Amino acid sequence: MTDLTEFISHLPKCELHVHIEGTLEPELKFALAARNNVTLPYADADEMRAGYAFHDLPSFLACYYEGMSVLLTEADFYDLAWAYLNKAQEQNIRYAEIFFDPQAHTSRGITFGTVIRGLRRALMDARRLLDVRAQLVMCFMRDFSAEYAMATLMESLPYQEWIIGVGLDSDERGNPPAKFAAVFARARAEGYQLTMHCDVDQENSVDNIRQCLDVIGVDRIDHGVNCLESEDLQNEIKARGLGLTVCPISNSYVRGSDGLAVVRKMLDGGLRVTISSDDPAYMNGYVTENLLAVQATTPLTPAELVQLQRNAFEIAWLPDAVKDTYLTELDGYLTTDVEC
Ligand code: ADE
Ligand code: ZN
Repeated sequence: MTDLTEFISHLPKCELHVHIEGTLEPELKFALAARNNVTLPYADADEMRAGYAFHDLPSFLACYYEGMSVLLTEADFYDLAWAYLNKAQEQNIRYAEIFFDPQAHTSRGITFGTVIRGLRRALMDARRLLDVRAQLVMCFMRDFSAEYAMATLMESLPYQEWIIGVGLDSDERGNPPAKFAAVFARARAEGYQLTMHCDVDQENSVDNIRQCLDVIGVDRIDHGVNCLESEDLQNEIKARGLGLTVCPISNSYVRGSDGLAVVRKMLDGGLRVTISSDDPAYMNGYVTENLLAVQATTPLTPAELVQLQRNAFEIAWLPDAVKDTYLTELDGYLTTDVEC
């Protein structure tokens, strides 16, 4: 007999929306700063955590980009990803699709190869040593130009075997999906899977989700919770079988407890919702904490908790045979005797 907290903590998990740069914990930031002779504007990790103050996407992004100043060498990117993958193992995350933001680094003079070689080596070691599987998804930053995104896409091609798909992140305001139509069409032609952020409560959230479907033809949507405002949009998302990678704690910075409650609404509405962590080092929550936060606001049954993971494994960019092994593991877990 196990309680629900324990059930959540041991549940086999699939994380589809985590920015590797958003997993940079203050302690590691200080260690990398010391190694690279970078001065940080805080005395220690606790002071840094206390200094994180954000209430919307732009105020979060300012902290997030500032934090990257310590990431300079291939070893730094390795250490960053290795730390996340160890955390993933602790939380029984069996599979993760991990975003990285090459332009946040190439714009600082760090080469694409430096970034991806470090990340890739950590992913390979995690598979071998931790039994955690992961793949990389390259995000374009939507507040840079479409030309810079296209150049980044071209730069990625020699490493294409190491990248499963492309996404779009950063500041959505004034940067709708259609701005990147040609880039995503080329990414599709090159064989990449496609996703895009539609962050919560943006100026044109509903229109932007619509563009993801009609202009881009995405394979899934990151966040996308504002689809709840349009019946048509929900019907279209369901008809296409698209999943939505929702990050409840991240949403709650913008919406308070309603950011957590949307998961219940999406489940009840028959949407293929999944739960992820977004930027866990900044938002105080990896997948387990996100599930616990949702559970505390709008109770979920063990079967619903398993359904959320099932949704994620089903929409993961993995061969069917590999998905099936995880889904079988999950089915076995549902037979755990839970004390509610
Ligand atoms: N980059 C890192 N986290 C992000 C988020 N939640 N939205 C947009 N861009 C991001
Ligand atoms: Zn995100």
